[in-house]
Amino acid sequence: MKNMPIVAGNWKMHKTIEEGISFVGEIQNRILDTVEAKVIFCPPFTALYPIVDAMGQHPFGVGAQNVHHESHGAFTGEISIDMLKSAGVDYVIIGHSERRHVFGETDGWINKKIHAVIESGLIPLFCIGETLEDRQSGQTSAVLKAQIELGLSGLSEINPDQFIVAYEPVWAIGTGETASVEQIETAHKDVKGILASLFEANGAHIPILYGGSVNADNAKSLIQAEGVDGFLIGGASLKIESFCHIIETVAAHY
Ligand code: PGA
Repeated sequence: MKNMPIVAGNWKMHKTIEEGISFVGEIQNRILDTVEAKVIFCPPFTALYPIVDAMGQHPFGVGAQNVHHESHGAFTGEISIDMLKSAGVDYVIIGHSERRHVFGETDGWINKKIHAVIESGLIPLFCIGETLEDRQSGQTSAVLKAQIELGLSGLSEINPDQFIVAYEPVWAIGTGETASVEQIETAHKDVKGILASLFEANGAHIPILYGGSVNADNAKSLIQAEGVDGFLIGGASLKIESFCHIIETVAAHY
């Protein structure tokens, strides 16, 4: 039997606490009890605990958008894993393209975060993806391989129920330009092969999400792409109508 598909909403730097609570409450009222999809909300740090607290028992997952790998210390502006755990967080996005390209996060840092998050029992949502330049120069496969091998370096095993990969071509994020089904299928096949070569059957069972300008109109064709286990969604996760529609589309495919 297939695993339940995953729909994760990365709100980035959007929504106050009040807006976040009201948004999650509305989605919960409309669909969450009934759909066959694992829905994960990734609000900004400030809204994490208030959302968990306001919702009580909830069927959705809550994810942070970043974390520091050290447990504590003089790291102004950073948030630790224990802080996230005490806020009721289950997932952490690691290595998002904006962290890599806007904030200069390296594969080395990402690797430290992956180790720390796995050890803590939280679930990493590990993002990889090529730039337009990488794709145009035929480097997509090599770039994905390097990101995976460097990001996961030093891990001898992996639990596919406790790890998620998101393939997000940088040129498709927030641009309105989605990768084609063929490009997605090729990349997901590559990623699965790399994970399998590192972790054998467990690697091959890690869910691989697609992200990059997923919206209510293209969700149906993209979820049918071979090897796509769900989506990581930015812009379209901020509006009730589009996010509900995508969740329902993904769940219907299950
Ligand atoms: P987008 O963002 O859906 O707005 O392209 C995706 C992401 O950054 O995860």
